[in-house]
Amino acid sequence: MIPSCYLRGLRLSSPWRSRVRISANVNRQGMPRPAAIRHAPLFSRSANIRTYTSESVLSPVDEEDPLGILLSEYKGNSQIPPATHEIKDLQNAELGERVVLHGYLGNRHELSKKFSFVPLIGKDLNQIVQVVSDREYAGNAHSRFRLEQTNSPVAIEGVVKKRKSAKKGRHQSKFKRHEFAIEDVEIWLKKYTPLNTFPKTTQFDKDTVFHSHQRHLQLRSSRELLDALKFRAKVGAICRDELGNKQDFLEVETPLLFKSTPEGAREFLVPTRTKGLAYALPQSPQQYKQTLMASGIPKYYQIAKCFRDEDLRADRQPEFTQLDLEMSFAGAEDVMDCIEGLIRRLWSEMLSQTLPLKFPRMTYNEAMAKYGSDKPDIRLGMEISRIDHLLPADLISKIGPHAFPAVDVFKLRLEDTPPSKVSRLISNFMKSPEARPFIENPDGQPGVAVIDSSKPLRGLQIFGFEAAERLEEDLGLEDGDVIMIQARKDEPFSGGSTKIGQLRLALHKAAVAAGYLPQPEGFKFLWINDFPLFSPTNDTDPGQGGTAGLASTHHPFTAPKTAEDVDLLATDPAAARADHYDIVVNGVELGGGSRRIHRAEVQEWIMREVLKMKPERIEDFRHLLDILSAGCPPHAGIALGFDRLIAVMLGKESVRDVIAFPKSGKGEDMLVKSPNEVTKEQLEVYHLQLKD
Ligand code: AMO
Repeated sequence: MIPSCYLRGLRLSSPWRSRVRISANVNRQGMPRPAAIRHAPLFSRSANIRTYTSESVLSPVDEEDPLGILLSEYKGNSQIPPATHEIKDLQNAELGERVVLHGYLGNRHELSKKFSFVPLIGKDLNQIVQVVSDREYAGNAHSRFRLEQTNSPVAIEGVVKKRKSAKKGRHQSKFKRHEFAIEDVEIWLKKYTPLNTFPKTTQFDKDTVFHSHQRHLQLRSSRELLDALKFRAKVGAICRDELGNKQDFLEVETPLLFKSTPEGAREFLVPTRTKGLAYALPQSPQQYKQTLMASGIPKYYQIAKCFRDEDLRADRQPEFTQLDLEMSFAGAEDVMDCIEGLIRRLWSEMLSQTLPLKFPRMTYNEAMAKYGSDKPDIRLGMEISRIDHLLPADLISKIGPHAFPAVDVFKLRLEDTPPSKVSRLISNFMKSPEARPFIENPDGQPGVAVIDSSKPLRGLQIFGFEAAERLEEDLGLEDGDVIMIQARKDEPFSGGSTKIGQLRLALHKAAVAAGYLPQPEGFKFLWINDFPLFSPTNDTDPGQGGTAGLASTHHPFTAPKTAEDVDLLATDPAAARADHYDIVVNGVELGGGSRRIHRAEVQEWIMREVLKMKPERIEDFRHLLDILSAGCPPHAGIALGFDRLIAVMLGKESVRDVIAFPKSGKGEDMLVKSPNEVTKEQLEVYHLQLKD
């Protein structure tokens, strides 16, 4: 006998998870739930198993011993009666056969106290069969069974019987949601082993929306989420087969406790118990994979965890996964060929789609000029062109603060939409919060015109006769077309997008949302190359901390593209192009890679003389410089964002929909409630102090 005060103590001192389990069996006062009170163990506790059978006898309740009941039932849980069948295999079972099935209880349909139907949902939540519980047939198993909570896991033993033709109605429509619905037989309950209970207070039906702190229930209730995880696993298996089996890449795991180096992104530090020493989590396996190239491994790959402490967006997580690879004695073409082959196979096997043998290529400058983005969604059309040479000088002086700006334009065409409706769409958009960044733009607000033949110069009078005529001709303008113009500083492109590029995307999205344009479909891959090797430093990316006002556009290991670019390193490094390639699909940067600098002296010279990094920061890379100087062969590689790959393949807006346990927009894991506060003791162990 265990006093209930002990039970209360147990509940209070137990960790959260155990408390939930226990609270499923006992109420707030530490007393057993009514079900447990009314139906005490039907067997002796020493028997170590609680199975309710047609033969067992109801015994009086030991109300004083709720923990005893719980533990007794728990002991039974370690001896689950082995399943004889998966639900989907019941179609091969004989009528009259006795079977044992595992699964979760579905919604009960009780015809009377003596007779009920309960669907049993398979452990993968994808199979379903009807269980008939009849007092006459199942005896005391029925009595306990009918008190069990929906969604509780159980082992059921019963007899296979022919199912009377299912009426069109509730049961049938419910069954249709499962991939394997057994319709022609049903299971008549004989024995029943409860394995746990589902909380009575938790609502769980097809419309319940769970908060992310209940990620387990989000997953359990959403076919879509579970399917995404299965899809992800299959894609991973194909990648391993293609690279590991077919193409002789060696899968190598590289360390997660790495070292802080100024590779480019902000890192997470892992303090150690040795005063002042810390590891850093890898922002990518870049430096280890280059080391593998110097180690005589010709082809490496890994599905690797990476960590970056950066601002989060729909396609960014602080902890994410890359499909990372590297090849020695290889260059850009070898890597791009390999990735095109892999992606073609994935699209063919997973999506039944045939992709072109070669993906088109576009330079960074062309992408920025035509689409205002280094990851253009070329499905949308709406190409941008430069028109400042067409515009009268007095107009140019009015459209932005810059003296001699570049002025860009794009056209949006909504088929069969009169100018009045188009004007309404534009005016609604310009008033919406989405337009604020364009209105509060230091380069000046965008100009907009809707082509309307009922107006002077078809609505282009602000441009003057000559420019209006040239615009009409060059852009092929028709009634109802919208043109948006935007000024910017006339200087080389840098960064990932221009304001007009962002405006192009935002306006297209608004037109789709308002039903004026269809959702773009299909997959348009392209390679973006000829990126600048270096970009001006900015406030958001830490870069390499050099004093040259430049940081590596990608990382400091990228090789200059041609001999001419090598020469530019000494004379005009900002003009040097990188032998870098990004793979882009539908406006998403799926991956990026490059040929690397494989000569230590050149690598060190770039760090010291071009980026003007401090000697101690260069020393952070000494391991890599030593490795390169040990006869490292030329090499090149790439990493695909694995989460993004899955999200793109499944047409998901956010990578969170394809990650089992994603972080929130604030970088929190709501399920485990992390990050959590560091305790005083931990601060001491790691020799850390908090600043006010
Ligand atoms: P890069 O930094 O371009 O290259 O990263 C490669 C790809 O990883 C994905 N990615 C992310 N996905 C989710 N959340 C994030 N925070 C995140 N950051 C990046 C993107 C990106 O294209 N070491 C180099 C690769 C190489 O040069 O071989 C690297 O990491 O899809």
